[in-house]
Amino acid sequence: MNTAVERQNGATLIDALERRFTCKRYDPNGHVSDEDFSTILEAGRLSPSSFGFEPWKFLVIESDELLGKILDCCWGAKKNADRTVVILARRGVDAQSPWAHQISGHVHGLSPEDERARLATFEEFQRSDLHVLESDRALFDWAGKQTYIALANMLTAAALLGVDATPVEGYDADALNELLVKEGAFDPGEWGVSVLAQFGVHDPSHRAHPKLRRPIEEVVEHVR
Ligand SMILES: Cc1cc2nc3c(=O)[nH]c(=O)nc-3n(C[C@H](O)[C@H](O)[C@H](O)COP(=O)(O)O)c2cc1C
Repeated sequence: MNTAVERQNGATLIDALERRFTCKRYDPNGHVSDEDFSTILEAGRLSPSSFGFEPWKFLVIESDELLGKILDCCWGAKKNADRTVVILARRGVDAQSPWAHQISGHVHGLSPEDERARLATFEEFQRSDLHVLESDRALFDWAGKQTYIALANMLTAAALLGVDATPVEGYDADALNELLVKEGAFDPGEWGVSVLAQFGVHDPSHRAHPKLRRPIEEVVEHVR
């Protein structure tokens, strides 16, 4: 049975989700505090992922020069956001990968025997259940799906903190990957860009678009 506090949390959450919107224009003087931004990044870090493999990295862009170049590759991104995060997805996370070994052994602390059993289950899951071992692209997209959970939690955290945000899928993937690799931000054998998120303060002179959603009866179907 929920306590009154937990029920209040639910109401607060829905209220924040009702109020949030994708920020289309930022106030150039708007600032997100370090504390709020840390909370947003922490919400991403604490996100769940398939098998707990966390196939993500969050690049916080702190150079104005690099940010300018990134924005040139991102038609969907906004100028003047206070913080821009490029969310990377890990390539090649399969049962044989050093990544899977590193996470199972060192982050999850499995014994060699338990790790072998876990990775055998993971192998079977990826190969036969999800069919994501059929191409590098399928495997990368599987990792990309996990990064969207982190993205969603960052957006929800921002909403709860009253920080405005923009999720950004509007980018030229080839150009952005090439730029970031050229700038030394990541090894393209290990990572690729999945999605971006921007945070800042909405320009109050720009009206946010109204919330448009399909009704709950259309979205949810109870199957008995
Ligand atoms: C993964 C994802 C990528 C998005 N990419 C962009 C984008 O590149 N530029 C943009 O202005 N909005 C982008 N959006 C915002 C959506 O258009 C927006 O969430 C949707 O229209 C619902 O509106 P709301 O967020 O204001 O409630 C993106 C949203 C998501 C979830």
